[in-house]
Amino acid sequence: MRTLTKLALGLMGKLRPAPPRGPATKTIQLPTPATEGGMPLMDALRERRSERDFRPDALPENVLSNLLWAAFGVNRPDSHGRTAPSALDAQEVRVYVALPEGAYRYDPEQHRLDLVVSHDIRRVTGYQDFVDGAPLDLVLVADHARLGMVPVAQRQLFAAASAGAIAQNVYLYCASAGLSTVIRAWLDREALATALGLGHDEQVLLAQTVGYPKRASS
Ligand SMILES: Cc1cc2nc3c(=O)[nH]c(=O)nc-3n(C[C@H](O)[C@H](O)[C@H](O)COP(=O)(O)O)c2cc1C
Repeated sequence: MRTLTKLALGLMGKLRPAPPRGPATKTIQLPTPATEGGMPLMDALRERRSERDFRPDALPENVLSNLLWAAFGVNRPDSHGRTAPSALDAQEVRVYVALPEGAYRYDPEQHRLDLVVSHDIRRVTGYQDFVDGAPLDLVLVADHARLGMVPVAQRQLFAAASAGAIAQNVYLYCASAGLSTVIRAWLDREALATALGLGHDEQVLLAQTVGYPKRASS
């Protein structure tokens, strides 16, 4: 769907998901992530960039697994620590995954995806047209109910900072794995919250598209 069409539908409150492309499974148990190796950190930092041309090819499950673990997975099981920081370790950011067959919520403890909607919500994750055809769009959502210890005036700032750290983890993993990605704030938050069936305490912060690049790999 073109950007102008999305903007017009958004103004009328009618930007909605598309029918699912294929049957969605209720849960996707992700394979154990590869938590060693990859590109040296300084090389990944050198390669990090935003890209907006994606091939539609689905990511293999092991790549999806590594990506989500890098984003906000459990890296210290004893303390339930995560790969990205959060104020007071509130771990308030939830990572949703929009796939052609449905939208899922990432459960970092179980390293599993739980189906939340069996619609293709990718086009609702941003006004830009490439988001519809890329194989996956992540949506970072703040659960304000987990920020009870933080003064109300600070909650949005803290959640946005945590989301930024998660987004950078995704950027670095993508650089290492030869994937393209772009973090995005230009989206219809209301339409996306409705599409995901979010509750009152949940706030859409950012979305991030991930996929294989259209450019020839070097
Ligand atoms: C908070 C934030 C919001 C952004 N929103 C969008 C967006 O909606 N769409 C988009 O294409 N890029 C978006 N970007 C990506 C920036 O355009 C990009 O990071 C910038 O042009 C620098 O390019 P680089 O990431 O390749 O260094 C956003 C970046 C940040 C940090």
